[in-house]
Amino acid sequence: MEVIVLGAESERAALVADAITDLLWGATDAVLGLATGSSPSPVYAELVRRHDVGQVSFARATAFSLDEYLGLPPGHPEGYRQVLEREFVGLVDLSAERLHTPDGQATDIVEACAAYEAAIVAAGGVDLQLLGIGSDGHLAFNEPGSSLASRTRVKTLTPRTRADNARFFDSPDEVPHHVLTQGLGTILQARHLVMLATGAGKAEAVRQAVEGPVSARCPASVLQLHPHVTVVLDPAAASRLELVDYYLAVWADKPAWQGI
Ligand code: GLP
Repeated sequence: MEVIVLGAESERAALVADAITDLLWGATDAVLGLATGSSPSPVYAELVRRHDVGQVSFARATAFSLDEYLGLPPGHPEGYRQVLEREFVGLVDLSAERLHTPDGQATDIVEACAAYEAAIVAAGGVDLQLLGIGSDGHLAFNEPGSSLASRTRVKTLTPRTRADNARFFDSPDEVPHHVLTQGLGTILQARHLVMLATGAGKAEAVRQAVEGPVSARCPASVLQLHPHVTVVLDPAAASRLELVDYYLAVWADKPAWQGI
């Protein structure tokens, strides 16, 4: 696991956008794993900027999102499919048909989850998965207690996550209780995991994920089991890491040829 602490939002966004741009230059039909939440927004903005000046094309790429609310009316602006179309996919040359999201309107949820898993496999698996982290350590919508081997399924949000996400809704009561989410086992199958976190509110979750025991108590700690993980933090999110000086030294001495 590589832990990178950078003060400037533009630097963090450029670093992750570089990894995605490099991936697409190497394989135009790359499979991207998209995350919602505020953490990846600067990366999307940077990718849109690069797309607009012709530095990157998503025309042959495919994208899979991590999760989706259940029970929102079709087309609700806070449905994660709508958010991703509004913030990223609709702003670049990635067609809506190439954006896959778990079906939050499904009547047969078990079947919809199995179909989502099958679609990821049929696409050849995710090359690079963007991730945020919940203040309770959740990854996608895998709340504490999630099986580290879990696959796409329905989950119930914790009160804390519903409160955290209430800022996107008119009223806290509007935040759904249930979601569909890729499992931790599903996420582990992506070839490169890139987790972004900023702010002091994430510091404890980041500490547990990066330096704590691997445990379903902190679902993001499952990242420690993956061979290629990049964690990109601002100083506030890194503020509780015991080995932060070491991570900074590794970054300072990183060979120029080595990407993330
Ligand atoms: C949401 C999403 C996660 C996201 C997390 C953090 O609940 N399901 O995928 O990583 O919350 O969100 P934010 O980046 O806005 O802090």
